[in-house]
Amino acid sequence: MKKILIALIVFALAPSTSFAGPKIEVLHWWTSGGEAAALKVLKDDFAANGGEWLDMPVTGGGGDAANVTLKARIVAGDPPSASQIKGPTIQEYDQEGVVAPYNIDAIAQAEGWDSLLDPMIAAVHKCQNNSGPYCAAPVNIHRIDWMWANKEVFDNNNLSMPTTWDELNAAADTLKAAGIIPFAHGGQPWQDATVFEAVAMGVGGNNYYKNCFVKLQGYTDPGSPGRDWNVATGMVIEGKAGFQIMGDWAKGEFTAAGKSPGWDYMCVPTPSNNGYLYNVDSFIFYKTDDPDKVAGQKLLAKLMMGKNFQKVFNLYKGSIPARLDVPMDEFDDCAKASNADIKTAGASGGLVPSFAHGMAQGNTIKSALQDVITEHFNSDMSSVDAANALADTVLANM
Ligand code: BGC
Repeated sequence: MKKILIALIVFALAPSTSFAGPKIEVLHWWTSGGEAAALKVLKDDFAANGGEWLDMPVTGGGGDAANVTLKARIVAGDPPSASQIKGPTIQEYDQEGVVAPYNIDAIAQAEGWDSLLDPMIAAVHKCQNNSGPYCAAPVNIHRIDWMWANKEVFDNNNLSMPTTWDELNAAADTLKAAGIIPFAHGGQPWQDATVFEAVAMGVGGNNYYKNCFVKLQGYTDPGSPGRDWNVATGMVIEGKAGFQIMGDWAKGEFTAAGKSPGWDYMCVPTPSNNGYLYNVDSFIFYKTDDPDKVAGQKLLAKLMMGKNFQKVFNLYKGSIPARLDVPMDEFDDCAKASNADIKTAGASGGLVPSFAHGMAQGNTIKSALQDVITEHFNSDMSSVDAANALADTVLANM
């Protein structure tokens, strides 16, 4: 009896290493109305499959703040079990030895991710310089080079969506003369960089700063510095401003506000020669000894690449599925256009990774370039000085 009692006490006091169920702590920056609605699809799926989700949101569009928090946790040896991540940063963290490829590669192999993803997108999610095991999962493809406009405001001013940068400037002048803020913008470094890369891709050449980038700045309102992107989208939704240049997570805000493309708002890509700036949202999984978290990582990776999940999530998020086999018939015309244009751009060499959203470079050079762009957008720095500063930044980071 005594022996049994001691055994019971020892058992009760022993640290529990037994499996309690899938658990995941997810660090992300999806906090706007549209973003939260999309993320809820994943949280609900995870819970429906018996998982416990510990949410770690870090507010701040574009993820600059979230990336700083993530880095600090990794440096402190306390990474979350999963985090939102962008292209090249996956390899950076892999090289730091904190990523757990083998937990999800087994899922990727069992589910046949190689046959579900475009090979270029698949490679981005493989550790060991893009050719080893899968260590991250993609949930979507966002397009950056979009313009969103309030239909009623455009109709009332006899305007149609511009198809050239000159038409865009002319439309902005008409709106300005009518007393409407032409260009809804939030003066934050990543938003300035988002506009910059759309203009740079579309125009190029020596005069692009002067003709488009600098001119656009003159079409914003005095309240733009520091404004969050979704607040700027709200100005277009309410007709306080004419249009906004922003990735298609902006469409998530229109959707969350119950607005329909074609009726309430219009979307067209910013003028370019079949260019398509792409941005993939991915989640990466970090090393852990906790069996609940390993199970959580496997479950989350499997759910994220699920066919129905990628449909429903992207209907809310504004993006298109990363999986190639998701039917597009329930998507709206903006998403259908994005899905068609990505193929045209891919075939004609126009598919360009977004630097403003961390798809072209890691976070260090991205931040350095953003600093120059935002200084140029928000000061009287000349175009020549800005171009030289950009070149110096690139050289210093090579
Ligand atoms: C992400 C989007 C997000 C946007 C604004 C981008 O970098 O890819 O998913 O909605 O930032 O926060």
